[in-house]
Amino acid sequence: MTILLLGSGGREHALAFKLLQSSKCTKLFVAPGNAGTDLIATNVSINPNDFEAVKAFAVQEKIDMVVVGPEDPLVLGIYDFFKNDGALQHIPVIGPSKVGAQLEGSKEFAKEFLIKHKIPTAAYDSFTSDTVEKGCRFLETLQPPYVLKADGLAAGKGVLILQNLQEAKTELRNMLVYAKFGTASSKVVIEEFLDGIELSCFVLTDGKNYKVLPTAKDYKRIGEGDTGLNTGGMGAVSPVPFADAVLLEKIENRIVKPTIDGLQKDGIEYKGFVFIGLIVVKGEPMVIEYNVRMGDPETEVVMPRIKSDLVELFQAVAHQKLDEVALEIDERSATTIMIVSGGYPEEYEKGFEISGLESVQDSIVFHAGTKTENGKVVTNGGRVLAVTSFGDNFQEAIKKSYQNIDQLHFDKMYFRKDIGFDLL
Ligand code: AMP
Ligand code: GLY
Repeated sequence: MTILLLGSGGREHALAFKLLQSSKCTKLFVAPGNAGTDLIATNVSINPNDFEAVKAFAVQEKIDMVVVGPEDPLVLGIYDFFKNDGALQHIPVIGPSKVGAQLEGSKEFAKEFLIKHKIPTAAYDSFTSDTVEKGCRFLETLQPPYVLKADGLAAGKGVLILQNLQEAKTELRNMLVYAKFGTASSKVVIEEFLDGIELSCFVLTDGKNYKVLPTAKDYKRIGEGDTGLNTGGMGAVSPVPFADAVLLEKIENRIVKPTIDGLQKDGIEYKGFVFIGLIVVKGEPMVIEYNVRMGDPETEVVMPRIKSDLVELFQAVAHQKLDEVALEIDERSATTIMIVSGGYPEEYEKGFEISGLESVQDSIVFHAGTKTENGKVVTNGGRVLAVTSFGDNFQEAIKKSYQNIDQLHFDKMYFRKDIGFDLL
């Protein structure tokens, strides 16, 4: 099969790595890809949000399957675009329909879905610029901290957690009246703060059947000890050591099953990944968000742990026969450490040459923000490389990643030295 994978981050390098382990994948294109995917597949310079360009390429190369990495093309409706086009409708797209993608594309849609299907989540209300004063009064009824969420996609920056009521009111106005996050914050969800520990559950579904993939925990803050600004993720661990059988059963029965059943009841087509962000409050899992794609850097620990043929799983998703295939998981722990460019998640420079890649042993280096320039690998983003290792436990895996990071170098490189610190 000829497969087209859309995206360019560490997630896509990890998906490419896994797809290429399948004998069914005879040719893999990545659009636009990075220096890492360039080494193992064929990069094509296409913007995944330019559906006409994706179409022209898919027709020209007789693509048999499209795998969508990031959320943007999903929220823009790439699944429906393929389904409704005579020249493309035979090509399965791994990802939800446009309506399904609203689970990530609109926080309000997600909250309504959660409440409707009685899935545990924080209490909330939503507001627009017309109801901003009502929103302020709602804040007065809550205890701090205050959680404000821009309804739409805001590149992971749309959630504000504030300690002070006055500040929360000011930020609510900034979002609704002064478009702090552009149109993404023309509606804001105000939510009850949940105090607990976070983990993520990944599900692959064909809209009817599902497989629960390995759990993972990511480290979102830039600074050690989970301090400083939020990032896309600075590292990840899978499995999550505290996710025991009792918790996993609660997650499956109270959250995963009702989510998939809810999609079916609501007639929402969904053939792809569901990434469920959870907070465990006093032993009870609650949903804080849905994403309609895999996480990054969680993919860099989840994919290596899947032993089954990913192309076979995707074919089963496309034909709604996911119940007929088995999912086999590597019991070992996998961890990944993200190496970023100094300054990230604020301003940072690009174009630094990366050295030492060939010296890495017993770890997998997934490229995130890199490109090939004059035969050299250079930095091309804030998050640059994800160094993934296996171990009998996460401590052993982390040790290997750090040993290998010692071999790698580029100007102003930075990484957290405490990934997994809270799990000991
Ligand atoms: P999200 O973009 O929805 O994942 O939110 C970003 C981060 O904000 C999450 O990873 C949590 O750490 C935090 N968060 C979101 N909602 C809540 C909530 N209701 N209570 C506490 N923390 C939250
Ligand atoms: N690591 C979090 C995310 O991919 O959204």
